[in-house]
Amino acid sequence: MKPILIIGAGGVGSVVAHKCAMVPEVFGEITLASRTLSKCDAIAADVKMRTGRTIATAMVDADNAEETAALIRKTGAKLLINVALPYQDLNLMDACLLADCDYMDTANYEPLDVAKFEYSWQWAYQEKFQQAGLTALLGSGFDPGVTNVFTAWALKHHFDEIHTLDIIDVNGGDHGRAFATNFNPEINIREVTAECRHWEDGTFLETPPMSKHQAFTCPDGVGTYEIYRMYHEELESLVKHIPTLKRAQFWMSFSPNYLKHLEVLQNVGMTRIDPVLYHGIEIVPLQFLKAVLPNPSDLGQSTKGRTCIGNVITGLKDGKAKAIYIYNICDHEACFAEVGSQAISYTTGVPAMIGAKQILAGDWRKSGVWNIEQHDPDAFMADLNQHGLPWQFIELTPEQALGFHVASA
Ligand SMILES: NC(=O)c1ccc[n+]([C@@H]2O[C@H](COP(=O)([O-])OP(=O)(O)OC[C@H]3O[C@@H](n4cnc5c(N)ncnc54)[C@H](OP(=O)(O)O)[C@@H]3O)[C@@H](O)[C@H]2O)c1
Repeated sequence: MKPILIIGAGGVGSVVAHKCAMVPEVFGEITLASRTLSKCDAIAADVKMRTGRTIATAMVDADNAEETAALIRKTGAKLLINVALPYQDLNLMDACLLADCDYMDTANYEPLDVAKFEYSWQWAYQEKFQQAGLTALLGSGFDPGVTNVFTAWALKHHFDEIHTLDIIDVNGGDHGRAFATNFNPEINIREVTAECRHWEDGTFLETPPMSKHQAFTCPDGVGTYEIYRMYHEELESLVKHIPTLKRAQFWMSFSPNYLKHLEVLQNVGMTRIDPVLYHGIEIVPLQFLKAVLPNPSDLGQSTKGRTCIGNVITGLKDGKAKAIYIYNICDHEACFAEVGSQAISYTTGVPAMIGAKQILAGDWRKSGVWNIEQHDPDAFMADLNQHGLPWQFIELTPEQALGFHVASA
């Protein structure tokens, strides 16, 4: 039982707090800290009501490494779980180095003023974490996170070589609002409006956002959705760590309604991240937009339907072509009943708890900065089944894999 510090009291932070509280044999004293103390207190009250456990709360500015380091020392935390925003990643890694604490997150660093996300900034901490004898685990959400572990597990148990990887993220849920994002609107919109990049024959190729799409039918009656190819951060680490990959792509479903709203917002300049002068005050349009959009952590009550996220993987086993699809299906209403959150926060928060568990109680506590696919996947995969995200896999023919035919329409 070890003390932990969770930073960030949004949709994901709430799920992490609930799920850690449900595993008392691993997670000792839990402190939830964020910019707005009242949000931490509201989550702590819900955790108490659902699990009977008392968790401590605190206010912290995660952009201030010294202040966060002081809180780590005060709480005695052995692991900091960063579920604030990607802008805070480097300051929180610095805080962990200052206060001798392991680090974990679910999204890679992004500078506030450039819509660019890549691992280079965090990989540059390798030597510092090694020398300090500390662990930093990067990207322990669903995607990145579970999708990386699915790939590592497929390589360990089903392939000698992986040649193609297609990660397909479908949210078949409906929140009943005209327009809302599944997680932090600012981060979400920066991600989906970025140029698309995919890996092909040893290099990343760039194409315009949303320019390639196709229909995808999910298994188990989740439905048929249009999926769009886009860039996602796990492609960068996966092609580095699995060098036999000839092609790697990421696909996400969007409804026509979401795309229509996004197009209008882009056309009128509301997704800009550079400051504009309004009545003598500088405001960033995308940050203002976030302030008027629904808060993703409030969508749980109204969201119905299921998510289906998985990987189509092809390669070679014993000299023969092989293809599989490995996936999880998660029900929004079931998540809300369990922890009071919709499935997007749930599918991120549960793997964050499981990654933290491997560091505290498993064999993932190794000095240095690690992407999740670099670790043995088996214990994490077993924990997914045990803690609310059961997975399944099916063998595909090469033709089925080529067309992503994993179920009949
Ligand atoms: N890997 C995955 O599968 C996946 C999926 C979804 C999301 N994510 C990541 O998960 C993280 C959390 O997402 P979310 O939807 O929960 O976001 P959110 O609802 O916006 O929550 C973010 C929290 O961080 C706090 N925060 C922001 N800046 C801070 C600062 N300087 N100091 C202290 N606290 C600060 C916010 O405080 P306030 O409440 O005061 O604003 C808020 O409580 C993001 O990094 C997102 O990219 C990963």
